[in-house]
Amino acid sequence: MALKQKIDKGVTTAGAVSATPDTASPPSQARVLPPIRTHGGLPLIDALRLRHSTREYDNRALPVRLLSELLWAAFGINRSETGDRTAPYWRHVMVIDIYVAMADGVWIYAPGQHELLPCLATDIRAATGLQDFVSEAPVELVYVAHGERMRDVVAEDQRLYASVDAAFIGQNVYLFCASEGLGTVFRGAFDPKKLAQAMKLDDRQFITFVQTVGYPKGWTDPAS
Ligand SMILES: Cc1cc2nc3c(=O)[nH]c(=O)nc-3n(C[C@H](O)[C@H](O)[C@H](O)COP(=O)(O)O)c2cc1C
Repeated sequence: MALKQKIDKGVTTAGAVSATPDTASPPSQARVLPPIRTHGGLPLIDALRLRHSTREYDNRALPVRLLSELLWAAFGINRSETGDRTAPYWRHVMVIDIYVAMADGVWIYAPGQHELLPCLATDIRAATGLQDFVSEAPVELVYVAHGERMRDVVAEDQRLYASVDAAFIGQNVYLFCASEGLGTVFRGAFDPKKLAQAMKLDDRQFITFVQTVGYPKGWTDPAS
C-alpha cells in the first residue's frame, strides 16, 4: 500500500497506523527498519536489576539497528499470525501509536511493516517536556492515544485504558534500555496542549505519556 494511502486510511487493525500527515511539509519516504534479532539481550532478571530512570543524556544519535529493536520491544508484533504485540492492550484495540520525535522530524512507528512513516519534518523534541534533557536526548517516544478507536467509552475511561496501554509499552522500553545500556525515563511532565499543537494532532487524539531514550551522559562505547 502506498504511504499516502496507509496514512489516510486510518487503520485500526493489527500492525497498521492512522495519522494526520503534515500537509505543509509533504512527507518523504517511509523508512524501513532493519530486521530485529530473534535472540539476545540480557537475561530478564539482570534487566530488572538494572532498570532505572535516567535524566542526563549524551546527544549522540541511536544507530538505526538499536532504534529498530527499541521500537519492536516497545510495541512490535511478536506473533505474526495474529499481529499481536510485545505489550498487552485494551480490548484488542490498537489505541496507542508511537510517535518518534528525533532531530530529523517526527515519525510514526508502523509495526506491521516494521517501518517509520514520516509525520512532520520539524524537530519538536524541545516541546515534548519541561525538563532540560528533552532537547539533548536523541529520541522522544510520544505515546499518542487515538480516541476515535475507543467507541462508546467515556473520556475518563479513554484516559485510563490508554494510560495503562502506554505504561506497559513504557516498561518494555525500560527493560530494553536496561539490556542495551541505554538511558530512558517515562514522563508525565509535558504541556499537553503545546505538544499536541506541535504534533498537529486532531481533537480526538491525546498524548498519554512521553518517554525519553538515549545514551546516558558519559557513555563510552565498550567496543572502542
Ligand atoms: C506515571 C509516571 C510519570 C512520570 N513522570 C516523570 C516525569 O515527568 N519526569 C521524570 O523525570 N520522571 C518521571 N517519571 C519517572 C519516575 O520519577 C521514576 O520512575 C521514579 O522516580 C522511580 O525512579 P526509577 O525509575 O529510577 O526507579 C514518571 C514515572 C511514572 C510511572
